[in-house]
This record gives sequence, C-alpha cells and structure tokens, in this order.
Amino acid sequence: MTAFDVAVDADGHLLQDLRVTVGGLPDPATLGPYSSYVAWATTPALDPVARLGRVSNGRNTTGRVAFNKFLLLVTAEASPPGERWRGKIVLRGNSPSGLMQPHAIRMLPAQPVHGHTRQGSGWRPPLMHPAVPLMIPGLEALEPGVAPFRPGSGVDPATLPEARTHQVLDLRDGDTLTLAAVPVRRTIAGRPVVMYGFNGQYPGPLIRVPEDATIVVEFTNRIDRPTSVHWHGVRLENSSDGVPGVTQGPVPPGGRFRYRVHFRDAGLYWYHPHLREDAQQDLGLYGNLLVRSPRPDYFDPADREVVLMLDDLLTYADGLLPFGDEAPSHALMGRFGNVFLVNGEPDYRLSITRGEVVRFFLTNASNARTYNLSLGGARLKVVGADGGLFEREQWAESVVLAPAERYVVEARFDRPGELAITNRVQAINHVEGTFFAEVDTLGRIDVHDGPGAGDRGAPAARFERLRVNDDVVREMAGFRAFLDRPPDQTLLLTLRVRDLPFGLVQVLRLDSAYVNPVEWSGTMPMMDWLPTGRQVEWVLRDLATGRENMDIDWRFRRGEVVKLRLVNDRHTLHAMQHPIHLHGQRFVVLAKNGVPNDDLVWKDTVLVPAGATVDLLVELANPGRWMLHCHIAEHLEAGMHAVFTVK
Ligand code: C2O
Ligand code: CU
Repeated sequence: MTAFDVAVDADGHLLQDLRVTVGGLPDPATLGPYSSYVAWATTPALDPVARLGRVSNGRNTTGRVAFNKFLLLVTAEASPPGERWRGKIVLRGNSPSGLMQPHAIRMLPAQPVHGHTRQGSGWRPPLMHPAVPLMIPGLEALEPGVAPFRPGSGVDPATLPEARTHQVLDLRDGDTLTLAAVPVRRTIAGRPVVMYGFNGQYPGPLIRVPEDATIVVEFTNRIDRPTSVHWHGVRLENSSDGVPGVTQGPVPPGGRFRYRVHFRDAGLYWYHPHLREDAQQDLGLYGNLLVRSPRPDYFDPADREVVLMLDDLLTYADGLLPFGDEAPSHALMGRFGNVFLVNGEPDYRLSITRGEVVRFFLTNASNARTYNLSLGGARLKVVGADGGLFEREQWAESVVLAPAERYVVEARFDRPGELAITNRVQAINHVEGTFFAEVDTLGRIDVHDGPGAGDRGAPAARFERLRVNDDVVREMAGFRAFLDRPPDQTLLLTLRVRDLPFGLVQVLRLDSAYVNPVEWSGTMPMMDWLPTGRQVEWVLRDLATGRENMDIDWRFRRGEVVKLRLVNDRHTLHAMQHPIHLHGQRFVVLAKNGVPNDDLVWKDTVLVPAGATVDLLVELANPGRWMLHCHIAEHLEAGMHAVFTVK
C-alpha cells in the first residue's frame, strides 16, 4: 500500500503486486531433476529478471514488479533457485501492457476528412511532443469545431499591469478579504500575454487562517467572462460554495458576490473559479488556503514551511494556445501543458540551508496532469493530505498528485548543492507501442552551507521518526467496519462520443488494446486538441437507477455515512483516470481494487485509475445541494458532474 492513490516508484513505474493462480501442475520431479516451481518476472528483453518466489497449485501471492512491460514465467527448478531460471519453462504469461504493440499508424490510408477543416478562424495546431513526432494521416487539416478564445482579446497586454507573485495573507476570524479576478500581463515564452489573476497575483493570495475562523470575501469580477469562486474542500455553508447553477448564479463581468467562508477543519485547501475552469483556472485564477490547527503539536517542528502549487501551461513557441470559446477543446484527454509552473513561475527556485527540515504543502492546480513529484531525490515523509493528517506517517520517494489533490510532506536536505524538482513518469509512445521515461524539471532547490548549516536540533531529530497519530487512528477506527458492507451507491465512470473525426476514432480504437491506469503525459497533442466538449460527453452513471450526470439527484440525511463505489470503465473508446471530487463533505478511501487501505486520512478528491474500483466512505455532515465531479477541468466541462442533497 502507498499513501497515494496510485503506487509508482520514483521513476514512475507502476508497482504491481502479482498474484499467480495455477492449476494442474504435476509433481516437478516428473519433468526432470526438479523439486519446485518458481515464478519470475522479466522484461521482453529478458533482462533484468526478478525472482518472485515459489508457486504451487492454487493461489499464490508472489512479489512486486516495477516493469512497464513484462513476462511472467513459471519454471521447474532444482532447489534452491538462483538469480535466474535454469530449469524448464512450464508457463508463460504477459502483462496487459504487453498487448500494446507498434501501430502502423503511418500506413493508415488518409481518410476523406470529415470534422472541422481549418478555415482561418485563428486556430493553429499545437506543437508535437518532442519524443513522439508523428502526424496522423487525415488529421492535419482539422481544427476544433469551436472558435478560439483568447482572454482580453483586443487588449494590448502592454497596457495591463504585470502580474505579481502571490502575497501571504494571515487572516483572523471576522476579517474581510477583498478579492478580484482581473486581467494581468504575464510573460510566457518571452512574449507578453494576457492572463488572469486574483488581485493581480500568481497564484492568488496565499490565505492562512486558524481553524474555525470565518472570513468574508468581497469578490469582484473584472475579467471578460462570467465567473465564480469555489473554496475547494472547505466544508462551508452551501450558499458560499461558488457553483453557478447549483449554489449561485454566475458573477457577470463587473459583478460582485459576497462569500462567507468558514474553515471548519485544519488542512490544505484551494480556491478557483467554477465556470469554464479549463480556461479560467488555467489562465491563473487559483490560490491556496492553509488552515492551521490550534494544537501546537499538530505538526512536528520544521525549520521552514513552503507552499507549492503545481501547474502546466500549453504554449507555442510564441505564446499561449487559445481555449475553446463555446466549449472546451481537449475534451477527451484534458489539456496537458508543455511549460511547468511552480507557484506560477516557469523557473521556480527555493533556497535553503543545509540540514533544514522543510515542510512542503503541495497542490496540483493543473487541468489534467497527474504528477509523480520528486524533490531532488530527498526522502519524503508523508504527513497529511487534503483535509488532515494520516493515521500513520510513511516514507516515500515521490508524491503522486492528481488534479486538485493536496499532500503535506516533509524533507531534510543534508547535502549542499542544486537539486531539481522533477516530475518523473513513464509516458507512452502510442506509435511505437512503447513506454519511455519522461523527466520534467519544475524548479530547483539550492541547498547551501551557511550560518546554522548542518545539524539543526529538534526538527532534524524528529524527522527520523515516523509518527502515529493516535487521535486520527481513533477517529478512523469505526469506519473500517464498513469495509465488508456492500456499497450504498455505485457510480460507473464512462464516456460517450459523437462526430469525432474518423482517423481519430481509428487511432483511439487501436490504442485501447492497453489502457495505462494513469495517462501521465499528453504525447499526442494534435489528437488531444481536436475533440471538443460538443463531441465528448464524460459520464457518471448511477448503476442502481441508470441515471447519469445531472439527472442523478441523490438525497441523503445529515449525519449519514455512505459507502460510495467508483468504477472506472475500462471498455470505452478512451478510458482514462478521473480525479473525483465531492463538494462540502469529506471522505476516506476505504479500499482500492478491493484491497483495504491501511492508512486513512480525510480527503475530498480521489484519483480513480482507468479500470480501477475505489470505495469511499463519505461523511455527510454538511447540509445543502452539492456537486460531485471529475476534476480534470475539461471532463467537468464535458458533463462529468452530478449533484446530491444533504438534508
Ligand atoms: Cu476544485 Cu468542484 O472543484
Ligand atoms: Cu475525468
């Protein structure tokens, strides 16, 4: 088990615990001078080899593998088995990823084009992924079937104020915050562009408040589109939840709205618009909320606290790729960017003194990308997630964060030097049918010697110890009883498409031989770009009633605890992961693919990998009409949302 929703190693290889069920194996001695059967995993190149252990007829739990594609072999061996098999191969299996073979995409006949042919409407196709140079025949001439949207069109960016880095605001109970969504000038790829910012900042102000405080936010919309502000993960009053069509009307350009935000739980939250998030959030409208516990020992001592918001932007060599106007582009995969931002900076730098223990508060504000984040190779102590502390702290090499997820991790930096903050994943080259390692550098940490470098006392000493949070263990104890209960509600996460270009459908069909549990990278930018929210409908289907998306209207009673099962349909034209978020409530992830979770924490967003089943236990403590949706911004805009009422 891992603290994260998906288990990968620091390089992004999926960690898979293998179970081997065999029947009909004869006594090995009948095959030769053998005394046992042994299972092995190896790559298609037969190197390296991992010995998984002995197997016999029946169910065997063997070992863990971290190969992208692998063969599973069972051999008859003379004991004791060595590092490599010597005996006879009696069984051979293939990992599901082994089904992915090179496509002859280049050989696809160019199809008569239907779809939206380029008409000088102002779209330009995105750049190709540097590792996958390919144009799919028949798609070159197409563009999304919606107009391109650029913020502040007609506005000369030179006339706008340059965006400033975020300000830290320590607010107290009863304080009022004036917040405005405004156009700003930013410099992207060396060119001035119009983007958005809260109070002219990127990210928006970092708001720190004590637990149980209530603040009033006087919000003004000064951008050119209707908007709203949602307080992600905060269990506040329903009327301040910021969801147009559910809890309020859109705030028109020039309009105002007053939010009363009550911070009931210590934790790491964030705020962003809830209207056309694919464009507005991506353009810079997001900020963090850090809610402090009154308990002095809530966290262990640290020398420094650092809040990092991760984001990616999709650019050309000379500026931003526009968004869809009437509906989003990128509605299938979501919009993967090619420029990485940490706290809005394309070139983030953190400077610390050697020996410091740093507590990092991490938020993924990207539209679609799931990160496998490493902090210069430092060993990470996983302390908390969205809305609280884990039962038990754990060590990790990297942090997996899906859009809208948050984690709190601590690290100690013992050696001076420059470290890279990286996203390391195994991406897929769909043309060659292969995995390749993608390493994105998000920023740098300079660890320097200076006054106070070296052993720094209490934080350093405490860092070595993993803490068990007895209060969390007690709080969670009762919930484990729900493990064996059938789910109260089951949602299938699936997809419907219409009128996609023929060539695109062909490639998607070929591609569904293997579905990566997490699509870590946008390796086919042209294909990702074309489908719009008019062609793609992402679907939440209530399996009990058959109702879908906004027709699902669950009613619960306040105080109920509900077991919600999320099943991510692997058999669609393009299965992919969905980070599912519930508004106004909190939940624990009880089990993943039937395996009980042994380290619970309060969350509001969970990543459901393609083909996976995740069981949540939702505490319905906050009355109102709330939204539940996928937090890939384009999926939300392509229908993937429902509402539920707590009375
Ligand atoms: Cu972070 Cu409904 O959103
Ligand atoms: Cu989704």
